[in-house]
Parts: sequence; structure tokens; C-alpha cells
Amino acid sequence: MAALKFREGTEADADAVSNVFSDSFSEDGITKRVFPATSEGARASIKDWLGGGLKDPHSRYLLAVDDSKSGVENVVALAKWVAPSAGPKAPEAEDWAAKMAWPEDVDAALGKEFFTMLEKKHKEHMGTRPHWYLELLAVRKSHHGKGLGKHLLNWGLERADKDGIEAYLQASPAGVPLYRKYGFEDIETVHVKRADNYSEVFMKRQPRPSPGASL
Ligand SMILES: CC(C)(COP(=O)(O)OP(=O)(O)OC[C@H]1O[C@@H](n2cnc3c(N)ncnc32)[C@H](O)[C@@H]1OP(=O)(O)O)[C@@H](O)C(=O)NCCC(=O)NCCS
Repeated sequence: MAALKFREGTEADADAVSNVFSDSFSEDGITKRVFPATSEGARASIKDWLGGGLKDPHSRYLLAVDDSKSGVENVVALAKWVAPSAGPKAPEAEDWAAKMAWPEDVDAALGKEFFTMLEKKHKEHMGTRPHWYLELLAVRKSHHGKGLGKHLLNWGLERADKDGIEAYLQASPAGVPLYRKYGFEDIETVHVKRADNYSEVFMKRQPRPSPGASL
């Protein structure tokens, strides 16, 4: 494997990060129903979501890139971290799943229910306490098990430790072992019966003493 570099994402990365999401989550029980790779509308929705995040000043994307590859293949992994914010969310970002025009060829009811539940639980679990929020961690299947998930996770954890605040996330079944290994504790698990009893684990991590953060 060529040497990889890490850099922060920009608006120009919208196609690449959407492609990484579709590749890495292709076996995920919720994604298969809500954002299936076969649906053009689903691909456009993913790009709206992740591309919109690239314009949001509170969202920080850390990308792993392989400069021996061009186009969307250049980005091989990503983390979307949401930095602690003193202010409320923009109105258009509230209840996005309920407001979104879901494509006709996906399980829109599941999408609305699931993502609305995630937002509600996030508020219940963290209230107004400032925290670093890992909204998304995705590594291309071809690059699993090479330490990229750990690196992208640690980038945000270093910042949480430097700020002396908690980190929070919602884990897919694939992510749970990694997060437990790096200090996250379970808060609650929600089983989604209509998605083959998929389980989403809500987790948080307390800050640790830290000498400082680095890219
Ligand atoms: C979950 C995911 C991000 C892990 O990324 P990765 O780059 O393959 O993980 P890493 O190679 O960095 O592994 C880091 C550590 O976690 C451990 N780990 C990762 N997955 C594991 C698993 N399924 N079971 C046990 N340990 C696991 C590794 O052994 C490794 O341990 P080490 O640091 O002691 O060497 C990746 O599998 C992925 O993108 N999955 C699909 C999308 C997804 O579900 N993302 C999580 C969303 S919440």
C-alpha cells in the first residue's frame, strides 16, 4: 500500500467522501435499507448530507488520502467530527431526517425514524454539555485493519482531551469494538427490529490529561 497522508476536508471533497461512505457502509444493516448503493437518489442524499457538512464551520473532516490514486479513489477513509459549539444548531439542520425529501426507492420511513431517534438520543445523553461528537467514521473496505480508524478517532480524542471535555458517538455494530478499546463506555443500546435487530450503541468517553493536540 502506498504511503497515506492525512489532511482536513474541503468542499471539493464532497464526491470522494460520499464514495468512501458508500463503500465502507455497504454491509451495514441500516445503510443497506436507507442509503442502498443501487439508488441514485440515495447517492445524491449522501452527497447533500456530507457535502453540506463540508460547508459547516463546526464540522471538521479528517481524511486519509492515497496520492497514488486520483478522483474519488484518492480518499480512503474519513472522520467527521463536530466541534463543541456554544450556539444552537441552524434551523435547517434541526430535524433534518423528518424534513428531508427521501428518495422513493429507499426505506424512507426507517430513515426518518432512525435518524430522528439518533438526534433525540444525542440531546438526551449530552444535553447542553460541550463535547466533541464523532458523527461519522468510515474506512474503505480495502483499507480495513490498517490502523486508519484508530488514527482518525484519536485526532478528535486529542482535541477533546486538550479541551478537557467529553467525546460522544453513536456506534454501528462494526465500530463498537474499536470505540470500547479506545475508552468509550456504553450509555444505551437501541435495537431496530425492522432492520434485522440492528443495534446502535450510544457511547461517551471522559477526557484524559493531555499535553496538547496535533494534526
Ligand atoms: C469500524 C472501522 C471504522 C474500523 O476501522 P479500521 O481502520 O479497520 O480499524 P483499525 O485498523 O484502526 O483498528 C483499530 C483497533 O480496533 C480494533 N478493531 C477494529 N475492528 C475490530 C473488530 N471488529 N473486533 C475487534 N477489534 C477491532 C483493531 O484490532 C485495532 O486494535 P489495535 O489498535 O490494538 O491494533 C471500519 O471497519 C469501518 O469503516 N467499518 C464500516 C463503517 C462503520 O461501521 N463505521 C463505524 C461507524 S460508527
